[in-house]
Amino acid sequence: MIDTSYGLLKGKKGIVFGPLNTQSLGWHIAQACHREKAEIAISNVKVALRLGEIEELSKLCNGAPIILCDASSMDQLETAFKEVKNKLGKVDFIVHSIAMSRNIRKQLPYEDLNYDWFTKTLDVSALSLHKILSQALKSNSLNDRGSVVALTFIGAQRTFSDYSDMGDAKALLESISRSYGYRLAKRGIRVNTVSQSPTKTAAGSGIEGFDSLFDLADELSPLGNADAEECAQYVVTLLSDLTRKVTMQNLYHDGGFSSIGISDELLARLSKQSE
Ligand SMILES: NC(=O)c1ccc[n+]([C@@H]2O[C@H](COP(=O)([O-])OP(=O)(O)OC[C@H]3O[C@@H](n4cnc5c(N)ncnc54)[C@H](O)[C@@H]3O)[C@@H](O)[C@H]2O)c1
Repeated sequence: MIDTSYGLLKGKKGIVFGPLNTQSLGWHIAQACHREKAEIAISNVKVALRLGEIEELSKLCNGAPIILCDASSMDQLETAFKEVKNKLGKVDFIVHSIAMSRNIRKQLPYEDLNYDWFTKTLDVSALSLHKILSQALKSNSLNDRGSVVALTFIGAQRTFSDYSDMGDAKALLESISRSYGYRLAKRGIRVNTVSQSPTKTAAGSGIEGFDSLFDLADELSPLGNADAEECAQYVVTLLSDLTRKVTMQNLYHDGGFSSIGISDELLARLSKQSE
């Protein structure tokens, strides 16, 4: 945990959707935004109050308002943005750090998914970005020259079999981000996705074989896996004015994993095994 602040978000307001507990990427992002002097609200589903530690996070972020809302419900989002406007005013940034797949939780094979759950995965993990932005615009809650960041994973581009329907959801999320990025550019608003390394969080650890994937990515990434705190530090740069011309991008924050073929160390080990 770093305590240096560069004041990168001084004078800015924003909402972070998806912090649950101290492991969550959204938790670290909320704290980093607070540290960089932004005024924030945090949002999650109602059950997160009981299952998570968001009241604690609110205290750590100077009493940040907690907005309870299912981000896949247009009605709840409409109410949520009214609440945000009352408590915080218009915002300069929105962070989407939301994902959920019952098919992954129940370890159903990709060839035999439950389609109601598949639809729910797409709705909660991808369409929610569309719905959040749609309601933010309808309620005139988003300032010009703002920034929107959603968290994604390289499973959108490459197949990791246990990532299942979430790979499809992430591909849709990244596409929605580009589609909005084009439309909101007229107002100087950027929309990007950050493709993060495997990270040990509630959502991450729910994936079968996650620990092996984590270790493989860590070994292959020239800089090693990026952790949640490093992710938060990267995200605040994208929310700041330092990145005004970055939009419609899927930005890898993964220690180089997305560009590596095979590392010398792994190749040497495999060669030794086959001797
Ligand atoms: N952990 C990883 O390895 C990893 C890697 C790359 C990207 N990501 C992405 O980062 C984001 C955050 O995940 P995390 O790993 O911090 O796990 P997490 O479980 O801490 O966060 C996921 C959040 O989504 C929330 N959520 C679920 N359904 C919701 C709904 N209907 N409305 C609003 N919120 C809802 C959960 O309550 C939870 O707070 C996700 O988009 C995830 O796919 C995670």
